[in-house]
Amino acid sequence: MDILHTSLDVLLPLVSIIFFFFFYPFYVLIKLVMFLYKQFLFENVAGKVVLITGASSGIGEHLAYEYAKKGAYLALVARREDRLDIVAETSRQLGSGDVIIIPGDVAEVEDCKEFIDETIRHFGKLDHLINNAGVTQTVVFEDYIHIQAANPIMDINFWGSTYITYFAIPHLRKSKGKVIVISSGAANIALPVASVYSASKAALLRFFETLRIELNPDIKITIVFPGVVATDMTTPRCIEHVSNKMCTFLYRININTNSNYMYFRALDLKNSMVQILSSRSQ
Ligand SMILES: NC(=O)c1ccc[n+]([C@@H]2O[C@H](COP(=O)([O-])OP(=O)(O)OC[C@H]3O[C@@H](n4cnc5c(N)ncnc54)[C@H](OP(=O)(O)O)[C@@H]3O)[C@@H](O)[C@H]2O)c1
Repeated sequence: MDILHTSLDVLLPLVSIIFFFFFYPFYVLIKLVMFLYKQFLFENVAGKVVLITGASSGIGEHLAYEYAKKGAYLALVARREDRLDIVAETSRQLGSGDVIIIPGDVAEVEDCKEFIDETIRHFGKLDHLINNAGVTQTVVFEDYIHIQAANPIMDINFWGSTYITYFAIPHLRKSKGKVIVISSGAANIALPVASVYSASKAALLRFFETLRIELNPDIKITIVFPGVVATDMTTPRCIEHVSNKMCTFLYRININTNSNYMYFRALDLKNSMVQILSSRSQ
């Protein structure tokens, strides 16, 4: 035991000295490089005007908080006014200098025009448009009792994003701004029980990829494909229900799966926000 104490008495100070004189400078250098890299990677959004659809909960709500922390001004859109009020207040507390809420329905063309007009009336410009509002239905396609019940998915997820983008384009051209579109992993994989939802997200992908070419170089477009994020849309009960239904189909097409969540990559909400904010648009 004495030998151990004696050797530690000698070794520990020696290791500490080596660390401070040889490794610490490298550590500081690496931190400095990381800092400069982040300065390049992250756009400075302080003072920029950001309109977020579907800001009353989930991904949209947390995007508002991340932008607020970075000092952006916010225009928050969704149908639930009471929820928007809470998100707006929290965003102010987190550092946003000015937040307005514009309640309405993205599936209505007139509402979409008003979202943009009100933002311009209040802030005088628009820098980022975040098309996030969306809904899902988990139904086996042939089980729809009335096929028209699927219409809201396209109306909200696809048309809701395209209408508002149409009205935003002249203002985004002026500001050399950015459109961020929350699509879904479902745009790229066949997702049983969510055929119409997947189609709406795939339609967004093709639409905005085309728009990226038409609007280049004035307006940049970022398309985001989240995996499963814990929100109102994906409560544990909902996930269990969907994955049970899904497994029946995976079994039918002979895909060997040990896990109900084969298609899913669990994403921590905060990390996904950081990915969205840090992504450089094309
Ligand atoms: N959660 C996931 O795992 C996941 C994965 C991939 C993609 N996504 C996509 O991420 C986006 C956000 O979803 P979320 O998970 O955050 O779900 P959420 O918490 O249910 O949020 C959906 C948001 O959309 C708004 N919204 C729905 N219909 C609207 C309409 N007609 N007009 C205006 N706003 C409307 C809702 O607000 P009101 O009800 O107040 O209108 C709510 O703020 C969606 O586009 C979704 O498809 C989610």
